[in-house]
Amino acid sequence: MPVELATRLLDANRDAIAAAARVLADGGLVAFPTETVYGLGADATNGAAVARLYAAKGRPRFNPLIAHVADARAALRLARFSDEAKLLAGVFWPGPLTLVLPKQEDCPVSELATAGLDSIAVRVPDHPIARDLLLAFGGPVVAPSANRSGHVSPTLAAHVQADLDGRIDLIIDGGPTSVGVESTIVSFLTNPTLLRPGGLPRDAIERVLGYDLAEAEPKVDNAPLAPGMLASHYAPRAPVRLNAVGVRPGEALLAFGPAAPSAERTLNLSPTGDLVEAAANLFSHMRALDVSGASGIAVMPIPNEDLGEAINDRLARAAAAR
Ligand code: TXA
Ligand code: MG
Repeated sequence: MPVELATRLLDANRDAIAAAARVLADGGLVAFPTETVYGLGADATNGAAVARLYAAKGRPRFNPLIAHVADARAALRLARFSDEAKLLAGVFWPGPLTLVLPKQEDCPVSELATAGLDSIAVRVPDHPIARDLLLAFGGPVVAPSANRSGHVSPTLAAHVQADLDGRIDLIIDGGPTSVGVESTIVSFLTNPTLLRPGGLPRDAIERVLGYDLAEAEPKVDNAPLAPGMLASHYAPRAPVRLNAVGVRPGEALLAFGPAAPSAERTLNLSPTGDLVEAAANLFSHMRALDVSGASGIAVMPIPNEDLGEAINDRLARAAAAR
C-alpha cells in the first residue's frame, strides 16, 4: 500500500503559491487551476516527481505529459519552434493551445515525462494562479488533468479532492475554471496536425495559418503519438447515451439549448445554446449526473462547430465501451 499523504487544500493567494512552489521544488505534487481544467503539477525535470505523478493518477506510462511554462521565452528552451509554431504561440499564448514540437537538444524535461519521445508538448496557460505558480517555481511543470486516469477532468477544486485526496500534497483552490475543456493540441512534427480538439476552436487556428490543419491518424493500439486517446478516457460510472431525443426510465438528462425534453434529473449545459458556456459546464455536469443515482446519462445532440468539436470528442469518449 502506498503511504497516504495528508492533502492540504489552500485558497489561492500569495502564501499558497509560495507553499506550492516549495512542494514542487521538493518533488511533490500540486493541483492548481488553469483556464481549461485543474492540472496536477510536478517538477518536469525531476524524474522521481514525475513517476509519483503517474502513480497518483494511475496513468498508463506511455502517455506523455504537457510541459507548462510561464511564457514563450521559457518554451523556447524546451522545444524547437518552426516559424508557424512561433506565429501560433505569438497569437494564442497565453491560452488553451498546446504545441507538440521537436525537443531541444539540451531540454531539461525528464525522459519519463515525454515518454521517451524526441518531441515535447508545451503550453503557456492563461490563468493568474497558474502563471504566478510557474513564475514562483521558475521551471517547467508537467501537468495532466488532475483526475484519476480515466475519470472526468476536474473544473473545481472539489473535483480534484474527490479523485486525489490522500494521493497528492496540495490543492490550490482558485474557483471554477473558465474554459472547462482541455487545451487544443497541434503537432508541428509534420505538417500542422490537430491531435486533440479543445478549448481553442480549430477555426481560429486555421484563420491564422491560412490553411486547414491536417487530421490526426486514427489511433494505432497504444502508440504514444495517439494523444490521450484511450477510447474510454473521460468515462463517468453511469453509461452515456449520445444524441438522445428523449429520456428513458431511470436516465438523467444532459441537456443543451432551450428545447430540452423534461426529465426528473436534468442539467442543461447551456439553456441558450451557447457552446462556450456548455464547455465550461461539461465536466461538472457530467460528474453531478453521475453521482445522482441515475442508471444512465442521456445526452442531447451538440452542434459540432467551434467548441462543440471538443465537447463532442469528450462525450464520445465518455460513451465509448469500456
Ligand atoms: O488543458 C490542458 O491541456 C490540461 C491542463 C492541465 O493544462 N492538461 C491536459 O493534460 O489535458 P493531459 O495529460 O490530460 O493531456 C495531454 C495530452 C495527452 O493526450 C498526451 O498524449 C498529449 O498531450 N501529448 C503530450 N506530449 C505529446 C507528444 N510529444 N506527442 C503527442 N502528444 C503528446
Ligand atoms: Mg486528462
